[in-house]
Amino acid sequence: MESRRKFIKNSCSFCVAVASLGAMSSLISSCSTLDVYKTELVDQIIQVPENIFLENEKVKIIRTNKIDFDILLIKKPEQKYSALLMKCSHLDNALVANTSGLTCNLHGSKFNFNGDVLAGPAINPLTQFKTNTHNQIIQIIIT
Ligand code: FES
Repeated sequence: MESRRKFIKNSCSFCVAVASLGAMSSLISSCSTLDVYKTELVDQIIQVPENIFLENEKVKIIRTNKIDFDILLIKKPEQKYSALLMKCSHLDNALVANTSGLTCNLHGSKFNFNGDVLAGPAINPLTQFKTNTHNQIIQIIIT
């Protein structure tokens, strides 16, 4: 009986340690995602000031409460921007973005900042929104 208690105690300690590592790794993984800028969608337009981008920063996650998925705003040369819906084109899972591209954690599809598929099973590119810039405000037009 004593050895059984010892076995259960040791097993539980092991499970707690493994669970802690799991929590730690998801924390680390969530730390590797980008900053989120929260704003509003008004008349199908999202407005974002250009100065949300820090020097040398190329991508920012944009979140509104009216769109189910985040938008990845990408800064390109010469004050141009593109905007991608962070929804996997395979089975509509939310994508994770980092400084090199977007990944779907459900089945492993990968996309570049043009929205092109780099790895399947997704075969279609990501939804892209038109952008305009006027008076240092970036407009993302949701269609
Ligand atoms: S839902 Fe994204 S790869 Fe399947």
